[in-house]
Amino acid sequence: MAGAFATNPREAVHLVPEGVASYFEHPVDYDVDEAWEEHLHALLGMPWPCPERQRAEALWEDAAGELRGRGLDFGRHTYGQYSDADLSLARAVWCTVVHLRPDVVVETGVARGITSRIILEALEDNGEGHLWSVDLPHPFERELAAQTGAAVPRHSRSRWSYIEGSSRRRLPHLLRRLGKVDVFVHDSLHTARNTRFEMDRIGRVLSPGGVMLVDDISTHQGFAGWASKASGARTLVCPSADGEGLFGVVRTTPAATQVPGR
Ligand SMILES: C[S@@+](CC[C@H](N)C(=O)[O-])C[C@H]1O[C@@H](n2cnc3c(N)ncnc32)[C@H](O)[C@@H]1O
Repeated sequence: MAGAFATNPREAVHLVPEGVASYFEHPVDYDVDEAWEEHLHALLGMPWPCPERQRAEALWEDAAGELRGRGLDFGRHTYGQYSDADLSLARAVWCTVVHLRPDVVVETGVARGITSRIILEALEDNGEGHLWSVDLPHPFERELAAQTGAAVPRHSRSRWSYIEGSSRRRLPHLLRRLGKVDVFVHDSLHTARNTRFEMDRIGRVLSPGGVMLVDDISTHQGFAGWASKASGARTLVCPSADGEGLFGVVRTTPAATQVPGR
C-alpha cells in the first residue's frame, strides 16, 4: 500500500476502501459445473462438441510459448499476486467471442494480455468488433508494468483500445461513451467490492443476450451477490483448468432483463 501511494497516489486512494472491505469477504461454496463447456455452448445456442476448442488451446499455447521464449514468466502468480489467464478461461473467451460475434467487447485487467490477445484474434477472425481494455499496471514493480500487453502482437492492435487506470476511475466514463457492451471480461482486482462494482456498471449497458465472463470468483462473494439479484440472467460456475480457481459466466436473455444496477 505504501509503495502504491508513493508511485501513484491518485490510484492508491481507491485501494483503501478495497482493503477495508476485504475484511468482510468470504469464500462461497459454489455448485461447480464440471460440464461447463457443454453448458456454455448451450447458453450461447451452439452445438457441443465444438471444433473451436482446439483453436483456443493452440492460441493459448502459442502465447505462453512466445512469452517464455522472450524470457518472461507465465502462469499462476507470476504478475505480482496476479496470474495469466488459464486455459479454461481462454477457451471460454474464445468461444464466446467467436460464436456471439460482438461489436463491443470490454475487459478489465490486462497484465501480459492473454485474454486481450485471444479476444483480438477472435475479433479478427470474425472480421468485426473492437476491444476496450481497462487496466491498472502493477503499481510499483516497474519490470512487471513494462510487460503490459506483451502477448498482444502488433498486427492485432488495430481493433484494440488500451485505457490505463483502475476500473473504478475509468470504467464509468468508458461505458457512458460506448452506451452498450456485448461481451465483458472481468480479470482485474478480484475483490467482492470491485467485482460487484464492475458487474453493476456493465449490467446497466449489457446488450440483450450479452455475456459476462468473471474470473477468480471463489475467494469472495461478489459474483454470487450479483447473480442472486439478477433476474433473467443465466449463470454458470466453471473450474479453472488447474483446479485452483473458478470463473463465472452470465448470459442475459434476449428478452427484457432486469439486472442489478439498472
Ligand atoms: C489477473 S491479471 C490480468 C490477466 C490477464 N487478463 C490475462 O489474460 O493474462 C490482473 C490485471 O489487472 C490489473 N489491475 C489490478 N487492479 C486493477 C483495477 N482496480 N482496475 C484495473 N486493473 C487492475 C493488474 O495490475 C493486472 O494487470
